[in-house]
Amino acid sequence: MPEIKQTPTASEPISNGATPHANGAESATLKERQTDAIPPQRGRYAHIVGWGYHVPEKVITNQDLEQIVDTNDEWIRSRTGIAERHVAADPKETSATLAIVAARKALEVADVPANKVDLIICATTTPEYLFPATACLIQDALGADNAGAFDLSAACSGFVYGLAMARGQILAGDAEYVLVIGTETLSRIVDWTDRDTCILFGDGAGAVLVAASEVPGGILSVDLGSDGSGGNTLIVPAGGSAMSTSLETVSSGMHYVKMDGKAVFRFATRVMAASTRKVLERAGYTTDDVDLVVPHQANIRIIQNSVLNQLKIPAEKVFVNLEKYGNTSTASIPIALCEAIEAGKLKPGYKVVFVGFGAGLTWAACALDWRTPVERQAAGWWKSTRRQATYSAAAARSMWKRAVRWVYDVLPDPETPGRDENPKEGPEMPIKESGGERIKE
Ligand code: COA
Repeated sequence: MPEIKQTPTASEPISNGATPHANGAESATLKERQTDAIPPQRGRYAHIVGWGYHVPEKVITNQDLEQIVDTNDEWIRSRTGIAERHVAADPKETSATLAIVAARKALEVADVPANKVDLIICATTTPEYLFPATACLIQDALGADNAGAFDLSAACSGFVYGLAMARGQILAGDAEYVLVIGTETLSRIVDWTDRDTCILFGDGAGAVLVAASEVPGGILSVDLGSDGSGGNTLIVPAGGSAMSTSLETVSSGMHYVKMDGKAVFRFATRVMAASTRKVLERAGYTTDDVDLVVPHQANIRIIQNSVLNQLKIPAEKVFVNLEKYGNTSTASIPIALCEAIEAGKLKPGYKVVFVGFGAGLTWAACALDWRTPVERQAAGWWKSTRRQATYSAAAARSMWKRAVRWVYDVLPDPETPGRDENPKEGPEMPIKESGGERIKE
């Protein structure tokens, strides 16, 4: 994995993932010690050490949208800054499959095997199912056998919420490596006849690996916020317990995104600046110290109004790529982070802010002291072959586990003889294969 550079003041030895996963008794002792550690461990920091993103191939331009709804390129560009968006046109492309590719890239950059990951947090507003969690499908496809996994629902703020959770787990001593993923297939819940919303959103996934380290820096401060009184301003009304799916909900389009754009706009411009100020203050920084802001990529006017005008942070320090992707919700910040790295906008020692907002209403920001070298290491054929082999093994293991479950299902149950004389009939559940077997890299 990339070496995290020492800060000039730090004298501790570098330890990326200070306590490597050990086997047997040693590992048990380590776990016990970690569980017992109630106060945050001193000299422990949470650094982003790997990153990756993936978007579907299919691009829908503003001109394409002109053929679908009553809109035009000039309106969309001037009101939002968006020119095109990627859309999961292939039904096999889902939030999980996009996330798996992004997560594998993040592990590759960090040079950390999947079995070292302790926790997978998948922030998404378009999970594969209500349950099981998309994070579990990702865990299976990665072969991350030692990881807990859960989905995080905080809409577009979800990725930064996830980073805050990852940092908390690491500082508490409960995890060494946490994968934080933002992944969306919003095209599946957008009403393509509603010009107010369909022009805004796109699909994609971004992932980062957060690692424990003794090197000072990393995610220094977080601010999480919520105002549920604004829940109805951005909502998918049907499909949950408040309005379960029925013919009526489908025929009235209640399973699609509904939005009061103006209300969300006003809210966003207010909280983006306030939350950024808060995390900077908590990290001991001022707005002048900031080297790079990676804001949620919803609307260029929101970014201009909040980050540029209110915070007076100059445009060259604010990374924007929404022109190409639209609003990819939880994925927007990690995708932008990856592209900022590719564009050479991020260097060790940089003071960085991620800030987002979204349905809930929610908002979230974090300030980082970036320490990880961003140059890509040369990828050795042996490493990439070994990595591919572990993913193939993970897919085989997943199939084997399913086969064992199937055998148990069809074998007569010795405890209740006769129970299986009339085998169950009914529709087969759609979740038959792991996301890993469906992905296209
Ligand atoms: N194409 C052309 N015209 C459109 C249009 C479209 N896609 N959508 C709306 N319009 C029209 C409206 O009907 C309205 O016409 P009218 O003046 O004749 O009534 C006019 O354009 C202005 O609409 P308005 O809603 O006032 O535009 P706006 O400047 O507020 O921009 C949004 C609309 C949605 C782009 C903007 O409010 C926004 O970005 N809000 C935040 C949304 C967001 O970020 N959501 C995700 C949060 S994570």
